[in-house]
Amino acid sequence: MATVRIHEQLDPGTAAAVVELWERLDTASLGTVDFITTAQEMLGYTGTTSTRQQLLLTCVDPELTAFAWATLPLSDNTALLEAEMRLMSGADPGPLLHALLSLRPTVAVWLPPGHDLSGHGFCLVQVEIASALRLPATVPEAPPAEGYVIHSWRGPVPEHHLSCVAGMKEAMSTDMPWGGQTHDREVWDGARIRETEEVDRRAGVETLWSLARHTGSGTCVGFTQLSCPAGRPAIAFQEDTLVAGGHRGHGLGMTLKVANLAQLARQLPRVRTIYTWNAEENSHMLAINRRMGFVPAARFECWQAG
Ligand SMILES: CC(C)(COP(=O)(O)OP(=O)(O)OC[C@H]1O[C@@H](n2cnc3c(N)ncnc32)[C@H](O)[C@@H]1OP(=O)(O)O)[C@@H](O)C(=O)NCCC(=O)NCCS
Repeated sequence: MATVRIHEQLDPGTAAAVVELWERLDTASLGTVDFITTAQEMLGYTGTTSTRQQLLLTCVDPELTAFAWATLPLSDNTALLEAEMRLMSGADPGPLLHALLSLRPTVAVWLPPGHDLSGHGFCLVQVEIASALRLPATVPEAPPAEGYVIHSWRGPVPEHHLSCVAGMKEAMSTDMPWGGQTHDREVWDGARIRETEEVDRRAGVETLWSLARHTGSGTCVGFTQLSCPAGRPAIAFQEDTLVAGGHRGHGLGMTLKVANLAQLARQLPRVRTIYTWNAEENSHMLAINRRMGFVPAARFECWQAG
């Protein structure tokens, strides 16, 4: 009979076993191990901060057959659990899904195509395309439109940008397309950014930022971030990109991403591939990525219950 364990604390042996299964499954279904979270990252991220709990669920039957790497928000979206999930082909997802639903009333799980969870009360609510940009790349020139300047930096957010970055993280949580997923506005402040930076530091992940400022008003109007894990030195991950509503249509999304790419080339020339994830309906972001040279590499599906 399948046994599901919820790991609020994580030991290195369990992390290594999960990573081994994750590598095996992604190699078979996606042809790459670039999308796995490493054991070092898992150990660094697992635990509770003031804004979220990160935990791992494993399903053993009698070998490890499935796992879910789950985030439970604590300061907003408190009815929601979001998880990255993998399971062996032919394994019953029921016990793991049941355990996830015992933690939160609404559960959204992401996994590669090929698993129909509709028989377990889940609906397919969104599809994301993962795209890759191989480096070095020749990207179009994209200087800032008149009236805007770009600031780029590596590592912690400077104190004088903290509240504006927090405001833009909140805007990101409402402005990006969520498909059929349930998601309320997130609550961000400087303390949450500092806490996130501390957890990233423990996981060995650093961030490169670029921010757009409107010179007339002095307000910041857009940002983008790249995550660079030390344990996967040849890869960087595109995280959020946002241009505030009143400032769209000036090519700032492209300007920000090209500026951050130039910073990456200067600071971390070891990186050979950038991956980005976009909802398949996010035509504006997909168009920018296509112009930069990103090419589709994989698809992921989001199934939600509750
Ligand atoms: C993706 C994003 C940064 C692009 O903004 P941008 O750089 O200003 O976009 P562009 O300058 O390339 O805009 C091209 C055209 O699309 C329009 N446009 C861009 N984003 C739009 C949006 N979210 N909704 C409606 N129209 C949009 C622009 O107004 C412009 O129209 P025009 O040619 O008639 O003037 C912006 O849409 C955004 O912040 N979206 C929300 C956050 C998000 O989805 N991030 C990516 C998550 S993976």
